[in-house]
Amino acid sequence: MTFARIAGTGSYLPENIVTNKDLERRVDTTDQWIRERTGIEQRHIAAEDQSTVDLAEPASRRALEAAGIDASELDLIIVATTTPDKIFPSSACLLQARLGVGGCPAFDVQAVCSGFIYALATAEKFIRSGSSKKALVVGAEVFSRILNWDDRTTCVLFGDGAGAVVLEASEEAGVLSTHLHADGNYADLLQVPCGISHHYEQVKAGQAFVEMRGNEVFKVAVNTLGKIVDETLEATQMSKSDIDWLVPHQANLRIISATAKKLDMPMDQVVVTVNRHGNTSAASIPLALDVAVRDGRIKRGQVLLLEAFGGGFTWGSALIRY
Ligand code: ACO
Repeated sequence: MTFARIAGTGSYLPENIVTNKDLERRVDTTDQWIRERTGIEQRHIAAEDQSTVDLAEPASRRALEAAGIDASELDLIIVATTTPDKIFPSSACLLQARLGVGGCPAFDVQAVCSGFIYALATAEKFIRSGSSKKALVVGAEVFSRILNWDDRTTCVLFGDGAGAVVLEASEEAGVLSTHLHADGNYADLLQVPCGISHHYEQVKAGQAFVEMRGNEVFKVAVNTLGKIVDETLEATQMSKSDIDWLVPHQANLRIISATAKKLDMPMDQVVVTVNRHGNTSAASIPLALDVAVRDGRIKRGQVLLLEAFGGGFTWGSALIRY
């Protein structure tokens, strides 16, 4: 049987750090409110001239280096992003050119905060079917560009960054199962309500901003993530104690803690980066994964549960033997 195994991870964060204290000077908020409600202490924000692909490129190069794979060997590139550089070409095509390669399929996936899980699940299916042997899967966002920096209910939550993994076909176990879901009926609770073909005048006015009914999203997120934990364990016949690490989407420490509780897992088995990165949307899981791989917490052979919930609504999970 062919598995898709993670051969290497990489990540990149823009240099500029914005602390909660910095935000106190901008909107009616406090460091205490942000920490207590979200767990966030700081976030990285891209420079004005830095794009999503500018962040994706160094993250990808680090993942390729960790995997010991040359970019020319890649036969698939998928980028999960909500904040692409251009309407077209896709960020995946732009990244492909930056990496100095061409020819293999390259495309973007849009599932907001669940984007990386969607991209990983897609790449895994390419590998399992034999269509791909070495795939680059990236989550990258400059989410700061779609934030209203005068709206305290959203601007304190997000950050910019990129994470990447190289997936390789292997006889050894790797991605064990993936689970994807969406329910477009919840679009109004979390959205940027305009785009190229809908309320374009809002885009032209520079007002394409995230709107979120946070409290309602929170409740659905906690409930839904609890269900996907059950679904993943049932599908793989694994028990809670088989999981070594929870690598969750980093939206809110309270949501993460609720999922850990559902798994009867102490917080020291949970990779938490939301305090330092904020919510980087599609980038948050591969960023967290890379941090914990590089600091030695996550080791080869261990079982990881990745899960995410985001705009759409979309949600998903991946169970992985690293
Ligand atoms: N500083 C101070 N006060 C604030 C701030 C702020 N930055 N933001 C909101 N408040 C106020 C509100 O106005 C409200 O005041 P009121 O009681 O006088 O009306 C009060 O704080 C409580 O607001 P709630 O929204 O009820 O606060 P809650 O505890 O729900 O926390 C939060 C808000 C952090 C947004 C939380 O609901 C959350 O994390 N939601 C889920 C986010 C998420 O997971 N999104 C999905 C992924 S993101 C994506 O896909 C793009």
